[in-house]
Amino acid sequence: METVYITRRETFNAAHKLYRDDWSEEKNWEVFGRCSNKHWHGHNFEVFVTVKGKPSEDTGFVINLKDLSKIIKQLVVDPLDHMNLNLDVPFMKGILASTENLVIEIWKLIEEPIRVAGGELVKIKLVETENNFVEYYGGKEPY
Ligand code: NI
Repeated sequence: METVYITRRETFNAAHKLYRDDWSEEKNWEVFGRCSNKHWHGHNFEVFVTVKGKPSEDTGFVINLKDLSKIIKQLVVDPLDHMNLNLDVPFMKGILASTENLVIEIWKLIEEPIRVAGGELVKIKLVETENNFVEYYGGKEPY
C-alpha cells in the first residue's frame, strides 16, 4: 500500500497579546506593534493536522477521521476555544503566546494520542489570520 497524507481541520478562537514583561512598553511596541496591546486581541484560529499512513485494507482509512477529530477537539479545541492564551491555558503558562510557540505545544499534546490511534503525526498548520500561518513538522525539516 502507498503512503497517504490525510488532514483534519478544526477551529477555535482565542485571545492573546505578544508581550514580554521583562521589556519596557516601548520595546514591546517596537517589536510586537499592535500585537502587544495590553487589552488583548483575538483570532479565529484554524488548525490543520496532517497524519501519514497506509490505507487499511479493511477500512481504506489511514486513520479514522472521527478519532482524529476527537483527539484534536479534546486536547486542543476544548482547552483553547474562547480562552486567553496568556492567562487561561495551563500548557501555555510562561510561554510567549506566539503562533509559533503555540503550534509546538499543540504538537506535544496530540502526537502520542494520534500514534495510539494508529497514525503518525507529520505536520500541523496553524492559521492565525488569512495572511499569517505557521507550519510545524515536529522539529524535522521536510524540505
Ligand atoms: Ni495576534
